[in-house]
Amino acid sequence: MKTLIVHVDPELPNPDVIDSAAVIIRRGGLVAFPTETVYGLGADALNPQAISKLYQVKGRPSKNPLIVHVPDPSAVIPLVAEWPPSAKTLSDAFWPGPLTIVVKKSPWVPDIVTAGGETVGIRIPAHPVALALLKAADVPVAAPSANKSSRVSPTRAQHVIADFDGQVDMILDAGPTTQGLESTVLDLTCTPPKILRPGVISPEMIRSILGDVIYESNLAKKESCIVQSPGQLLRHYSPKTPVSLIDDLSELYSQLAKGVRVVFLSRTFVAVPTPSLVVLPMPLDPSTYGSMLYERLRQADDVAADWIFVEMPPEEDEWVAIRDRLARASTNHK
Ligand code: TXA
Ligand code: MG
Repeated sequence: MKTLIVHVDPELPNPDVIDSAAVIIRRGGLVAFPTETVYGLGADALNPQAISKLYQVKGRPSKNPLIVHVPDPSAVIPLVAEWPPSAKTLSDAFWPGPLTIVVKKSPWVPDIVTAGGETVGIRIPAHPVALALLKAADVPVAAPSANKSSRVSPTRAQHVIADFDGQVDMILDAGPTTQGLESTVLDLTCTPPKILRPGVISPEMIRSILGDVIYESNLAKKESCIVQSPGQLLRHYSPKTPVSLIDDLSELYSQLAKGVRVVFLSRTFVAVPTPSLVVLPMPLDPSTYGSMLYERLRQADDVAADWIFVEMPPEEDEWVAIRDRLARASTNHK
């Protein structure tokens, strides 16, 4: 298959390009598009064949449900069995934006989208290209992050091309995404609501609106609400090179002394580069850090060192999503 790769203006995408992408979606094809978080790989959520192809191309386990993307709140209603007041309050506060709301699904949503589960995750993304595509497609669009299953999520079209050129119909290239971390996934089917995946919308931001919200540190064991979030299984978001998280430099120096080649993502530590130590500086503030993290992990992978060492950022609310992704990036190798 020839993949059409088309550049679009991130603020004012060409309507003809958007229309041709929408036609592909409506005909059961696959289109990768930018959101404010990461690039998604979209298919018509109401077309089980298209969704089946999406799972296949991504190499995604069939037990892992997909997020359904819509352009406005009115498009949510046919997808859900109920839309509780808390969902309305949250969507008023955070949509369009990086929050996925999990509620009971309506029979209209095919089982394959929700991996057979009773709930559906929905969001309105805050990106002009995504919104234009969703409006033009005029169907709900299921879209996982546009990476092969368990790899680092794509923040640029080049990352999508590397994984899917020749396997999807179209890739819309609107440059780098702004947020860089996947949406916060919040389950409203349990009381109190539970954060299944932390993101830029932090536990504190949700608490300030809903009051009580559960967030268990990422890798802690989870009890279930209606379903667990299978996508939050370990072995996720991983570069090929093993990742080790550090709070001081002693382990880094002892590895270097053994002749191990290291890439170090340093935020505050001062480490002097040597032939066997590449230092990639990381931003001090969480928002810039989050937008760069996946790109840096890819760069670190490209160095082809033996280990990627990462300075662990602080244990504070605004770093929760970043600590989660770093912990996952490192779990393959523990
Ligand atoms: O920012 C994002 O959310 C991006 C962009 C493209 O929107 N999408 C994304 O999709 O990250 P994906 O498939 O890579 O991750 C979706 C996560 C998975 O962990 C999945 O298990 C969880 O959301 N999820 C989806 N539907 C769910 C549901 N009904 N119940 C529980 N978890 C759900
Ligand atoms: Mg993903």
